[in-house]
Amino acid sequence: MSMTPSDVKATLSFSDGSPNMDLPIYKGSIGPDVIDIRKLYAQTGKFTYDPGFLSTASCNSTITYIDGDVGELLYRGYPIEQLATNCDFLETCYLLLNGELPNAGQKEEFVESVTNHTMVNEQMQFFLRGFRRDAHPMAVMTGLVGALSAFYHDSTDINNPEHRKIAAIRLIAKMPTLVAMAYKYTIGQPYVYPKNDLSYTENFMRMMFATPCEDYKPNEVLVRAMDRIFILHADHEQNASTSTVRLCGSSGTNPFAAIAAGVACLWGPAHGGANEAALNMLEEIQKNGGVEKIGDFIAQVKDKNSGVKLMGFGHRVYKNYDPRAKLMRETCHEVLNELGLQNDPMFKLAMALEKIALEDEYFVSRKLYPNVDFYSGIVQRAIGIPVPLFTAIFALARTVGWIAQLNEMIGDPEYKIGRPRQLFVGAEKRDVKPMAQR
Ligand code: ACO
Repeated sequence: MSMTPSDVKATLSFSDGSPNMDLPIYKGSIGPDVIDIRKLYAQTGKFTYDPGFLSTASCNSTITYIDGDVGELLYRGYPIEQLATNCDFLETCYLLLNGELPNAGQKEEFVESVTNHTMVNEQMQFFLRGFRRDAHPMAVMTGLVGALSAFYHDSTDINNPEHRKIAAIRLIAKMPTLVAMAYKYTIGQPYVYPKNDLSYTENFMRMMFATPCEDYKPNEVLVRAMDRIFILHADHEQNASTSTVRLCGSSGTNPFAAIAAGVACLWGPAHGGANEAALNMLEEIQKNGGVEKIGDFIAQVKDKNSGVKLMGFGHRVYKNYDPRAKLMRETCHEVLNELGLQNDPMFKLAMALEKIALEDEYFVSRKLYPNVDFYSGIVQRAIGIPVPLFTAIFALARTVGWIAQLNEMIGDPEYKIGRPRQLFVGAEKRDVKPMAQR
């Protein structure tokens, strides 16, 4: 699939008599057209200005499509609702990486290949030991993922398709092991090695919750919930961390280093850190009076000077209910029912908060709806995942999206190193004065 030139052209005119410039327009398969400004600087000596990329497409892509106005998310054309209901995470990984869902044989081969790469080099343990036990898991993950490039020299050439393929498998396979190791290190328990007769998600949960004294018996509902969390977080087109991975990888650096950059970006509370922040917020409201105090909290959120945001609400692209939030809400019910936690005060609080926010003029007029993070924290907490690990689990799931996007970029003949320009507003050229005159 490629960009199709449109019959319509844009013309840029200037009020100072400079000549007009015709700008080509390209059409995608769905979604907004793009105005091609690549020759703008050469022809006019001007840049465009778009901090935060509010109106800028940084690439063309065939992987994920979001219609934020209707609240639709498609991976390779398939609605997220269908994938979350009919497929498992590894099928979704195969789809994101290869463009098509696997048939039975392809799935078997892919699962086997991922399963055979779940162990990490034993030296990783010593690397991990260098961290403080109370380090944030995302600090540990940034280090561990970056360190993979020091262990797997035979898959670090980003320009070699075979290296890219094996790096993709290694990253997808080893992320659960690394996240579980980071957790076990924090709580001072021995690491649990992966076990090849378990599914990807069962294996992760066993590495998290088993000990040498007591094995973990996978619970179907909880495993399915965790697998769904992975599917829902697997990709989300050109978000901040994915763009970071693309930009980082555009210099030709190795895939492990580029993914480590994505992990670092995801950590922020405006992005992947929002699930942790959302749960902390709910705990804070609960502590200060719970449902009764929602009104006070909402008033604080609406007061621009308070600096308080309703975490888990709002999204740069979705101006409607995030489809992932709907699925996560459903999963939340299932998990709480399974665990006999139907009356979980945090869930009740979240539902009450959501109801009030969805009716409030402040949120309605700004089209602020719950995003996936609003409910994923409650689900993970119920499963037994400690709050600081939430973002690391998001990183585990998003790794496939990052690597699919990175490989797409490297395989694109038009790819160039990413190098934005700027509007300089600082001091003009001046001379350094001797110290006594400054
Ligand atoms: N609570 C209160 N007000 C909000 C919120 C919120 N969560 N989100 C946006 N607003 C307000 C802004 O203050 C702004 O109001 P104004 O027009 O009166 O100035 C308006 O809504 C538009 O918001 P922007 O900040 O311009 O939107 P932007 O696209 O830049 O930000 C973001 C999107 C960062 C996600 C924002 O909504 C936010 O901070 N939400 C909370 C954090 C969060 O949940 N992040 C998760 C994102 S999803 C993910 O990473 C999986």
